[in-house]
Amino acid sequence: MKIASIIGARPNFIKLAPVSREIRGKFNEIIIHTGQHYDYEMDKVFFDELGIPEPDYHLDVGSGSHGEQTGEMLKRVEKVLIREEPDLILVYGDTNTTLAGALAASKLHIKVGHIEAGLRSFDRRMPEEINRILVDHCSDLLFCPTKTAVKNLEKEGIVRGVYLTGDVMVDALQRSIGIAERNSRILEKLNLGLRDYYLATIHRAENTDDFKRLKAIVEAFCEIGNIVFPCHPRTEKCLKNFGLWDTLKQVKVIKPVGYLDMLILEKNAKKIITDSGGVQKEAYIFRVPCITLRENTEWIETVEDGWNLLVEADKEKIVKVVREFEPRNKQRNVFGDGVASRKIAEIIGGIK
Ligand code: UD1
Ligand code: UDP
Repeated sequence: MKIASIIGARPNFIKLAPVSREIRGKFNEIIIHTGQHYDYEMDKVFFDELGIPEPDYHLDVGSGSHGEQTGEMLKRVEKVLIREEPDLILVYGDTNTTLAGALAASKLHIKVGHIEAGLRSFDRRMPEEINRILVDHCSDLLFCPTKTAVKNLEKEGIVRGVYLTGDVMVDALQRSIGIAERNSRILEKLNLGLRDYYLATIHRAENTDDFKRLKAIVEAFCEIGNIVFPCHPRTEKCLKNFGLWDTLKQVKVIKPVGYLDMLILEKNAKKIITDSGGVQKEAYIFRVPCITLRENTEWIETVEDGWNLLVEADKEKIVKVVREFEPRNKQRNVFGDGVASRKIAEIIGGIK
């Protein structure tokens, strides 16, 4: 069987790594990179650190408005799929790359497998929510990370081809944390003590593109102090355009870091402040209290278990919550045991 993995953005690479490891060797795998992310620290670093094979196709689509970017990907991915004729394509998560890959394949009657299917924030203002819904509805195999995801699909009438596998990000984390602990020097480099700093990541359009929200977040960060902030290129651009970049003096703003450094920064942080989907999960897995600067989350179990608090972009509220939040609750095994990729490979092996 020939399988094409279609990836293009940072979280796609991290999810691909353990899956590729399982399917390569068992099947004929090719990798198609749309080029949605392209800076070294948003792209190549993950291939180097996670041992992901060099993509067979690099489509160099780059940045653009949603329509422009997704349309260009659709056009270029289609050409490759016509040429390669895979039996199955795999897409990961909820990015524009995920949507373009799924759409291009389903129109060519190629089977689509969605890894991280069934997630819902129930907020259609998020581009990711539109991507998830559309991808799930044109997928043949839906690999769900959680029971909630399976139920979400059921409510939308999707019951065929649905598999509860656990979360491939647990597989990635378990495989890499030991390597990170041996090799990362990020704490020394930034002069950070264990549980002595806050870690922040912000990149959601709803926070970065809205001056009032971004200003409130920046002011809260300055007041809290002692924050390490690996800054997404989108956020850097918005901070500069809004004239907020220079006000971040009390915050350790750094370039985005590689996966290994990120795991170490997360594991040893006092608390994490984020609007990232993946970072909310990693905080939960490392048992680090997480404050999520969003009105909703698709990773609802982290909130239900009391390890993640949703806070709106209001300076006073952010400062208070970050200072006071102390989760005491027990955790459930929500995201699986680190064998999701193996299960996915077995399921694929069983289909006709
Ligand atoms: C995308 C995903 C989001 C995911 C995030 C992970 C969509 C709709 N959004 O958001 O779900 O959480 O990736 O990081 O697919 N840029 C660079 N260099 C890069 C990449 C981006 O400078 O290597 C800048 C460009 O100005 C670009 C902007 O960041 O316009 C946004 O990039 P884009 O890929 O469109 O969306 P993200 O915000 O990264
Ligand atoms: N990540 C990273 N370096 C960073 C920020 C994030 O390696 O500077 C990793 C993080 O550990 C997680 C993934 O990127 O595994 C999350 O991706 P991102 O926040 O870009 O997207 P989302 O999960 O919100 O879609």
